Amino acid sequence: MLLAHTAAMTASLRFVQMHSEDSAALRRELAHGLLGRPATVSPKFLYDALGSKLFDAITELPEYYPTRTERAIFDAHAPAIAAAAGRGRTLIDLGAGNCAKAARLFGVLAPLRYVAVDISVDYLRQALGSLQRQHPGIEMVGVGTDFSATLALPPEAGGGERLVFYPGSSIGNFTPQEAQRFLQQVRTVGGAGGALLIGVDLVKPKAVLELAYDDPLQVTAAFNLNLLRRLNALLGCDARIEDFGHVALFNEAESRIEMHLKARRALSLRWPGGERHLAADERIHTENSYKYSVGGFEQLLRDAGFARTTHWTDERGWFAVFLAS
Ligand SMILES: C[S@@+](CC[C@H](N)C(=O)[O-])C[C@H]1O[C@@H](n2cnc3c(N)ncnc32)[C@H](O)[C@@H]1O
Repeated sequence: MLLAHTAAMTASLRFVQMHSEDSAALRRELAHGLLGRPATVSPKFLYDALGSKLFDAITELPEYYPTRTERAIFDAHAPAIAAAAGRGRTLIDLGAGNCAKAARLFGVLAPLRYVAVDISVDYLRQALGSLQRQHPGIEMVGVGTDFSATLALPPEAGGGERLVFYPGSSIGNFTPQEAQRFLQQVRTVGGAGGALLIGVDLVKPKAVLELAYDDPLQVTAAFNLNLLRRLNALLGCDARIEDFGHVALFNEAESRIEMHLKARRALSLRWPGGERHLAADERIHTENSYKYSVGGFEQLLRDAGFARTTHWTDERGWFAVFLAS
């Protein structure tokens, strides 16, 4: 008893920073995207400390159904999910954000260790620090990394059986081909006996989808426009927020929500070593969020090499949580 108590008191928090915002490679990636036709910026640049806070605000909006629908699925099926996923594993939270979704599952999953992974390094540090104070008995490891090209974890992520957690339908930011490659890497990271618990947004009426990404309070617009601040900070660009408008539309042929920043007038974006002219109404494509059917996502999991899958959904069939191994 005394031993268990001592172990609980000495559980630690470590942080491994594998990602630096101030890198030449990131600047090259941004410039390359801006010079493309159409101009694009990866959605990973939406998340700095302010972007992460704006995303948290989005999750509170009545129009943004994904967070509360996914939470309701976890709440309704927690014992079944835990029984299938297994207790006492290393819980690896990809794109952890404020870590709240994983923390809600600590009770049923009883993780041996919690590994929170995110590109928004400062925000993750803060979130994990306060989570460790609330759960001093759980060993925690923060990993600041960009997993868009390669998913790799440092040795500090530890051994044991792994449960990879990827909620929030973040998988939808990848094209289906990229998603398949990413899921294959998840299998590798999960290792032998590993499993994946993943939240996936499903196809639903266009009006519901578009309102979720273009709310009347314009919080999602602010989240999208924050990208211009990031261009200025990272690339030394001269973008003016007032020159752009937020656009969100459902592309039915591709089954994806698209977010864009639309130039309100003809203008040029300039940065050291580059310039991009935008005609009036020309757009910078900033995010895709693919919407799946249950069958379509099961197929994607199988194509990525997951042999066994099971899923839970809400009454309206708006969102699904899959467990795959
Ligand atoms: C849609 S939010 C989801 C946050 C939280 N997991 C949830 O479900 O509410 C996506 C999260 O993934 C992180 N993220 C986005 N792109 C990333 C990348 N390339 N590498 C690592 N983390 C990334 C963001 O910083 C953000 O916290």
